[in-house]
Amino acid sequence: MTTPPRLRASRAATDRTQSPVLASVSEAVGGTPLVRLDRLFPESGIEVLAKLESMNPGGSTKDRPALAMVRDALRSGRLAAGGTVVESSSGNLGIALARACREHAVHFVCVVDSRTNPSAIATIRALGGEVEIVSEPDPASGDLLTARLHRVEGLLDEISGAVNLYQYGNPANPAAHADGTMREIADATDHHVDHLLAAVSTTGTLAGCSQYIREAGMATSTIAVDAVGSVLFGGTASPRHLPGLGAGVVTDLSLTVEPDTVVRVDALACVVGARLLARDAGILAGASTGGIVHALGTLVPDMRPGTRAVFIVHDSGTPYLHTIYDDQWVHETVGADPGTLARATSELQERARRG
Ligand SMILES: Cc1ncc(COP(=O)(O)O)c(C=O)c1O
Repeated sequence: MTTPPRLRASRAATDRTQSPVLASVSEAVGGTPLVRLDRLFPESGIEVLAKLESMNPGGSTKDRPALAMVRDALRSGRLAAGGTVVESSSGNLGIALARACREHAVHFVCVVDSRTNPSAIATIRALGGEVEIVSEPDPASGDLLTARLHRVEGLLDEISGAVNLYQYGNPANPAAHADGTMREIADATDHHVDHLLAAVSTTGTLAGCSQYIREAGMATSTIAVDAVGSVLFGGTASPRHLPGLGAGVVTDLSLTVEPDTVVRVDALACVVGARLLARDAGILAGASTGGIVHALGTLVPDMRPGTRAVFIVHDSGTPYLHTIYDDQWVHETVGADPGTLARATSELQERARRG
């Protein structure tokens, strides 16, 4: 199968193979490893591959859309060096934009909320970004994301010439995943992927991967892993404890995506999946990736032997050491003690064992 011309290799990944010296940290975005995980669901008959987006310089898959959106805004003239970007983020996009903006001499103000990891806030500040923390939910909807978006609107009025890149609807967001994340997966697998699993928030990752799959004519089913309490894909709103997974508003991008399957995971599932991935695959990942691993574990028994499933490792687990990897936090937030967690982790793996 050939790669469609408009989805050719991005410069970052291409240059990396040609020269050991990169012109900037941005050139190190993309070209992440795809790794076979034989020990995650042993004797399941399923080939599981993980795309380590956590190995991007900012520690998450958001490095790709951040860079793409900044470059696109500069190219179009909407933004110029010396200008200001104001963006809402649950953390990872903020980290990615802080570096991308700094590199392009653009001032950056990031609106986060009280669920954002303190380490993400500190990282954004260290990379030269300014941080505004929203702690009260929107009174009408009770949602923190809506409150964040209102604060962004306020800042756009206050700061002359400020630009919002609007990750929830910006076409450069999914385009970075079509001509990046999914193209790299397709190239590495000779376009043979039965299932692709991605967590959803703006849905940019899944929208871009789905676009590539469609345009390249791949026979890949897409599985969206969403949070219980997220309103995406017809979900019902309820409180969510973990950053990065799900959305409190129906994003514009989500209206363009039709996943083949939607699996909703709760916080306990995210903890169990993340701990299994760390224990048996040696990958310390964030909560949404834990949700993906849990979803995959529940789906594996219904997959035929020989199936190849690829999932995205959206971010690194280091910022989550004090939440999903901390027994006390898990007990207080999710209500599970270490014994219950250990049993649930082993049961997830056992369920996937064939025969
Ligand atoms: C932790 C985490 N989970 C999930 C996602 C998927 O988000 P989106 O749907 O906005 O692409 C991301 C994106 O980078 C992420 O960082």
